[in-house]
Amino acid sequence: MIGLDLQVRPAQPADHQALSSLIFFETHAHRHLDWRAPLEWLGSPDFWVAEGNGRALAALACPADPPGAAWIRLFIHSGTIPARLAWTQLWETAKYALANRERLEVGIIAQQPWIRSLLHDSAFELSQTIVLLEWLGRPALLPEIPAGLRLRAMSETDLPAVAGVDASAFVPFWRVSLDSVRRAFALSTHATVIESDTGLLAYQLSTGHPFGTHLARLAVRKEAQRQRLGTALVADLIRHTRQRGLARVSVNTQSDNRASLALYQEMGFRRTGEEFPVYRYSVT
Ligand SMILES: CC(C)(COP(=O)(O)OP(=O)(O)OC[C@H]1O[C@@H](n2cnc3c(N)ncnc32)[C@H](O)[C@@H]1OP(=O)(O)O)[C@@H](O)C(=O)NCCC(=O)NCCS
Repeated sequence: MIGLDLQVRPAQPADHQALSSLIFFETHAHRHLDWRAPLEWLGSPDFWVAEGNGRALAALACPADPPGAAWIRLFIHSGTIPARLAWTQLWETAKYALANRERLEVGIIAQQPWIRSLLHDSAFELSQTIVLLEWLGRPALLPEIPAGLRLRAMSETDLPAVAGVDASAFVPFWRVSLDSVRRAFALSTHATVIESDTGLLAYQLSTGHPFGTHLARLAVRKEAQRQRLGTALVADLIRHTRQRGLARVSVNTQSDNRASLALYQEMGFRRTGEEFPVYRYSVT
């Protein structure tokens, strides 16, 4: 093991290669489920590197995006230093910097067990789990839309309004920024909206895979909820998946999201048993 004198400093675009190697070779790598690769956050504030003997040995990225929510997008450390040392040095620096700027919630979907004890010891609290559900070809509902509304393909020009629907539907911690909406749209294989004469009311974004489709995002403007718009978007997605000759649709949601769990279960989705804990830390 090399000497333990770590220096923490802001990450720079010039760190790209060193951090790529860490991500490629190291087994302790936490990456957020994200539409951006972790190194695409280089150049954002709140991306830190820990150096030892002039070499990047660990990194932590937790940029606030959108404002008010800072997800841990990357935490990685070299096997030559203990996880706890890397985490403590980086997290204490990040926490101090965040606390000096704004009130926000830091979140992490801890998919790997090794990171969970570090989070517990740093006073992160388990807030819920992310659960995976799958629709496996049961009879589907027809996408019926209330009179006066239209379901259509999303276009590039819709994206600011889509981000507006997202902000209306989700609490700040779970919102996505316009930049994330743009990236999700670029990666989507099926993206639809429901609109009235006054504007967008609901949207979904999904990505295709060899066995079916993954519903990446579904939201209905607060004032338009409980009018079967969410059901119509999911029914249309199931129809689209079937038209491709496939019969599997997956989705992640929060274990305490009563509305979405009820909607998916009513449509024939079942929990797969796979779930990941979400931890939060409030910076005030
Ligand atoms: C989840 C969401 C998309 C549902 O959209 P919606 O258009 O309001 O839902 P629907 O009207 O199609 O509801 C279908 C069924 O789901 C269930 N449901 C929907 N909202 C519910 C709620 N708030 N509480 C309990 N059950 C609910 C009901 O069984 C409902 O049928 P019913 O109204 O005939 O009883 C919407 O509440 C939303 O945007 N929430 C915030 C964002 C979010 O959580 N997205 C999903 C993340 S995976």
